[in-house]
Amino acid sequence: MAHLFDPFESRRLQLRNRIVMSPMCQYSAPEDGTVTEWHLVHYGARAVGGVGLVMLEMTQVAPNGRLSPADLGIWDDAQIPGLRRLADFVHSQGAPIGVQLGHAGRKADPVFDAVGPSAIAFSDHYRVPLALDTKGIATVIDQFAQGAHRALEAGFDMVELHGAHGYLLHQFLSPISNRRDDGYGGDLSGRMRLLLEVADAVRNVLPQDMPVWARLSMLEAGAPGGYPLEDTLEAARRLHAHGIDLIDCTTGGNAPVTEPEFPGFRLPLSAAVKAAGVPAMPVGHMDYPQLADAAISSGQADLVALARGLLRNPHWALAAQQALHVEPTPPIQYRRAYR
Ligand SMILES: Cc1cc2nc3c(=O)[nH]c(=O)nc-3n(C[C@H](O)[C@H](O)[C@H](O)COP(=O)(O)O)c2cc1C
Repeated sequence: MAHLFDPFESRRLQLRNRIVMSPMCQYSAPEDGTVTEWHLVHYGARAVGGVGLVMLEMTQVAPNGRLSPADLGIWDDAQIPGLRRLADFVHSQGAPIGVQLGHAGRKADPVFDAVGPSAIAFSDHYRVPLALDTKGIATVIDQFAQGAHRALEAGFDMVELHGAHGYLLHQFLSPISNRRDDGYGGDLSGRMRLLLEVADAVRNVLPQDMPVWARLSMLEAGAPGGYPLEDTLEAARRLHAHGIDLIDCTTGGNAPVTEPEFPGFRLPLSAAVKAAGVPAMPVGHMDYPQLADAAISSGQADLVALARGLLRNPHWALAAQQALHVEPTPPIQYRRAYR
């Protein structure tokens, strides 16, 4: 029996199945970072297509945290109405909606003033970031908290902290980019301090029953000087103790290296997080119905996140129901296609 379509709960969040739309930047916002018709159609289509949770792309908590001038933003109250419109439509299709709160740090587009843990550029393409002082760090923490509060105001159901792919929170966690000798650097406790303080600040502004997840690069994909899995498992445990409900397991991004990818390649990472007592979701080539279902059925994952598979087919969840011999649940308008 398939388990991919079992419901799932995370605090008050109730998902109709275990399929999560992974955050994907669309680079389709005007300079003010507001939602456009593109976002409405793009996210709306995946809600129509039956995913359990629509997760908005990395949405920046600060204007200088943008990867590109066309990123979505959540740094200004003027961005709330567009986000609310998106949330309302996604809700009307039976899916909750979350937002991935991000700050690119040293990977900000070179047109912006980049900040980071230390004055080390990611590559020649990027600026050397300004190493944040304690006041700058407090500002970043506040920006994340304010972003979370705006998500709540816009009617979002949960938030995810982007602690992966070489962006600011990951930059602090990784010895590759963090060479600080104050309380925000050095050993693992120092390097994960910003992540934990952001988690605390975000939890503080949100209702107790609203979930907060975090995406972590569990491994640094073979980059020289990167942290080992034990570090991220410890980070996962401590984040969980600070009220982070689930770890979204990815890899890499903080050094210009590539890693081999294949179906299910991050499943051992979510299994390891689960073995550490923390709910987990793998991402990366999980868009094969039998594989996705086996990930859940075998207990190696609580949820699966899909990105490119959902770009290719917004109705992937409905197709997976057919592939797994589960009664398809299309919206009423599309029922004739599934008789
Ligand atoms: C167009 C595109 C944009 C992406 N943007 C984000 C993002 O905003 N935040 C993030 O954490 N990952 C982002 N990713 C990575 C995906 O969320 C996902 O981790 C990755 O594509 C692997 O999953 P897949 O094999 O299902 O595509 C992006 C991927 C794609 C294809």
